[in-house]
Amino acid sequence: MCGIVGCMLNDNRKAAPVLLDCAKKLEYRGYDSVGLATYDERIHVKKDEGYIETVDEALNLADMPGNYGIAHVRWASVGKPSKLNSHPHLDEKETVAVVHNGTITNYSELKDKLISEGHKFISQTDTEVISHLIEKFMDEGSDLEHALRRCIELLDGSYAIVAISAKEPNKIVATRKDSPLVLGQKDGSYYLASDIPAMIKYTNRIMELNKKEIVVITKEKLEIHDEHDNIMFRTPIEIDWTPEMVEKNGYEHYMLKEIHDQPESVRRTLLQIDEIKEILDDIGEIEKICIVACGTSYHAALSGKYIIESEARIPTNVVLASEFAHSLNIMDEKTLLIGMSQSGETADTLKALNSIEGPTKLAIVNVEISEMTKIADYTILTKAGPELSVAATKTYTAQVTVMYMIAALLGNNEELLDKLNKVPEYIEDILENSEIIKSMAKTYLYANELFYIGKGFSYPTALEAALKMKEISYIHAEAYASGELKHGPLALIDNNMPVITIIPPGKDHNLTLNSLEEVKARNSRIVTVCSEDDDLVQDKSEECILINPDVDEILAPLVYIVALQLLAYYITIEKKHNPDRPRNLAKTVTV
Ligand code: G6P
Repeated sequence: MCGIVGCMLNDNRKAAPVLLDCAKKLEYRGYDSVGLATYDERIHVKKDEGYIETVDEALNLADMPGNYGIAHVRWASVGKPSKLNSHPHLDEKETVAVVHNGTITNYSELKDKLISEGHKFISQTDTEVISHLIEKFMDEGSDLEHALRRCIELLDGSYAIVAISAKEPNKIVATRKDSPLVLGQKDGSYYLASDIPAMIKYTNRIMELNKKEIVVITKEKLEIHDEHDNIMFRTPIEIDWTPEMVEKNGYEHYMLKEIHDQPESVRRTLLQIDEIKEILDDIGEIEKICIVACGTSYHAALSGKYIIESEARIPTNVVLASEFAHSLNIMDEKTLLIGMSQSGETADTLKALNSIEGPTKLAIVNVEISEMTKIADYTILTKAGPELSVAATKTYTAQVTVMYMIAALLGNNEELLDKLNKVPEYIEDILENSEIIKSMAKTYLYANELFYIGKGFSYPTALEAALKMKEISYIHAEAYASGELKHGPLALIDNNMPVITIIPPGKDHNLTLNSLEEVKARNSRIVTVCSEDDDLVQDKSEECILINPDVDEILAPLVYIVALQLLAYYITIEKKHNPDRPRNLAKTVTV
């Protein structure tokens, strides 16, 4: 999952501060190690295990000579976090430096062969075979780009690779297959990175790199070569993201900033209505829908199922992408297969979409240049803007917003479309009154486990709220459809188990209230998210988060979740964990 960066600067700037700056914006992809390599008469390397700021304090990463180079932030997959396993990886003569994102599945056999030929390895990583192979092919007479080409012909698995060589100064080469890499240019300087937020401060003119293409960057030009060495012409796309969007803007963490971005990001997403209508008109008759997704996107898809089935009466199946191969996916041309993903790069979701022919494929993604957009027949962009915290918040509400727009358009429900326009204001109300949630966090700081319950439209919200809580606070949190409690989980309820109940006004209110009574009778501490004028529920609760009474159960998935994102955030802060960098997780899961 790692993040990789490269830059070739054609002005007086040194590369290292730029590389470091870009790498910091990729920390959501991995943060167990960091490293830079630049070139000035020889290859210079600084790297170590640890967060960027810690390694930077010790090594002063920005202080390196040269105006081009490469960088890496690591999420360990092959080989534990350590200085030796950190990227960039070099060959033993230190003529080649490589950064890599992905997993080389046949690295053991390649490594054995290289060792038998006399190469000496110092790390446990799969990546080190790449630097040795490039060295070997350059020794045999290939130039850097052809050495990289010969190297990738031997690699199985996924990769995005950026490399430099002391034998060919003033050149960066790069390639990719199944791991992302985008190119940027401005005023004669060139940038490469795993994702657009890394370089948006320096350029918004972005180019994509297709699988197995090789990009060769020199001081004079950037050239993209296809597999047959033909030069490919590519026009940069101007991305409408701004540098401010990737800053914390005074917030302590990206997560808090991104939670606060939601009124605006939902508003921006709602403006997509004409594009979405055009796409749905073009697709024509839809008899059934299947949505594949992982993690938070899966929960957004589940919310979509409830709203599409209720408002458009189209059967909608939601499948975890990692389980897609194990379900009977009977689809024809009247089925709409949707891939839902904030990154557009999640390996399991891409695999699921690729595994089936017949249905029309629609990608709902937050990143304009991403693999999923290439697979799909149509793309709807969620306009959440760049999201840098590992825990998804604004991309979730943007995805749910798109689900609502699809449901309203397919169901010709103008009233729902009108109601959606009020959502940003309802979210603003919650953000303005977040002090109460902050103070509640002190009470639940020591909870060992939490239950979330919700019914109907609110059930996916319960699942997502519990996922947020476990991801960042490490509190064991489970979510149940409230009606399921009595079929097992009630056995776990006692006075040590707080139950967070999502109970908006609407037809499911009273049944949810019954479940709440059941847990209250077992002495559970009752926390509710309910309407401001719901005195009945408030009387039965130890703590309440109050929501505008105009938000009924249909709109609740877009609004109530914001309060629960904040609760997860503030509990995490009380526990002194960093919500932006939860242990063991990465935002974009390309393996
Ligand atoms: C990872 C992230 C989650 C995300 C999931 C799916 O697990 O940590 O936040 O929901 O991947 O990612 P996608 O990019 O497909 O939405």
